[in-house]
Amino acid sequence: MKKIKNLILFGTRPEAIKMAPLVKAFETENELFETKVCVTAQHREMLDQVLAFFEITPDYDLNLMKPRQNLYELTANIIVQLKPILEDFTPDYIYVHGDTTTTMAGSIAGFYSGAKVCHVEAGLRTHHKRAPFPEEINRQITGRIADVHFAPTPTSKNNLLQENIPDETIVVTGNTVIDALLTSVEKVNKEPSDYVQSLEAKLADKEVILITGHRRENHGDGFERICKALKHIAETNPTTQLVYPVHLNPKVQEPVNRILGDISNIHLITPLAYQDFIWLMNRSKLIITDSGGVQEEAPSLGKPVLVMRDTTERPEAVEAGTVILVGTNVDKIITEATSLLTDKERFSTMSKLHNPYGDGNACKKIVQHIKELNSLV
Ligand code: UD1
Ligand code: UDP
Repeated sequence: MKKIKNLILFGTRPEAIKMAPLVKAFETENELFETKVCVTAQHREMLDQVLAFFEITPDYDLNLMKPRQNLYELTANIIVQLKPILEDFTPDYIYVHGDTTTTMAGSIAGFYSGAKVCHVEAGLRTHHKRAPFPEEINRQITGRIADVHFAPTPTSKNNLLQENIPDETIVVTGNTVIDALLTSVEKVNKEPSDYVQSLEAKLADKEVILITGHRRENHGDGFERICKALKHIAETNPTTQLVYPVHLNPKVQEPVNRILGDISNIHLITPLAYQDFIWLMNRSKLIITDSGGVQEEAPSLGKPVLVMRDTTERPEAVEAGTVILVGTNVDKIITEATSLLTDKERFSTMSKLHNPYGDGNACKKIVQHIKELNSLV
């Protein structure tokens, strides 16, 4: 029997984390599927950390990352460089994830090739064209192109239905980030790394706030305000340790190092390997972030999150009370963080464990659906 050919495409750290369990799930079915992995390497070091942890060796590596890359060139290069791969491998299905430039350009190239485009993490919407920028539009374009939509939640399915996407092309699976988290948590607990042990020695059992941030719409004034708020929180809570793995984007590195570089209870560190980051999330009392993925992981770990954005395409955790949107407003970030550090009752209400984003079986459901589409079950 002829095998079904899958091409799984990703390029940045979060896509890699969220697609790794799908690569593994298809690998267990290799009598039915021939599955190849292509990375655009829109990210390089931050992507390679994830590939190493999940032991994935890409079949194709476009190696596209350039320092301070721009969206025009990156988009064009992805489409052009995918052409020979798509023509050589001729996949039946191409899988793209989420809302990055790799996702959007990959879905266009996949469509041109005649492959069926499967969108993993489909249907999230803020309905604000420029927030997040350019991700909201990347996701909408990919949603328009895709043949199969793997929506993580009923809310995301509903967003697609409202855009007249046919019901029979949408499957609610949960988010694959929870598949990755649940399998990795076990590994992390079994073998805490040397890095984690040396970090813990510096933290000396003190209370930790974990920070991450990278969104393009926060570059410039937004990051100046974020850093001002973090500086104030650190100075008014001298025993609390703020740990900030700083994204490698120079537009993030510059203000963060300039404003926060010399504060003794702020630890600016390099981006962490995924397993170490999970350990740090678990170790923290509170997370302040603008990350999409972290908003999804934190409820599963029972961690309150302040999200430094005005809108979110992930309303489930806000509704459940684990996440509060604080934007990049200095006073709001300080007030909410201080309240969570001092008000025990509020902290405990926000620290409830729950899983609005999935139960760890998303990839099984995706594989099952592709089998059903091909009458393989
Ligand atoms: C990208 C995605 C964003 C996603 C984020 C996750 C787009 C437009 N943006 O944003 O949706 O949320 O990744 O982190 O798709 N860099 C390195 N090494 C790395 C990674 C980045 O040096 O491993 C630096 C380079 O100078 C690069 C710059 O960061 O040019 C920006 O990378 P880019 O992928 O364009 O944007 P991100 O802000 O990382
Ligand atoms: N993450 C990581 N190391 C870090 C920071 C984050 O492995 O130092 C992981 C985190 O667990 C989550 C993902 O990276 O799964 C989020 O990536 P990012 O915030 O860059 O992108 P977004 O989710 O906002 O697109």
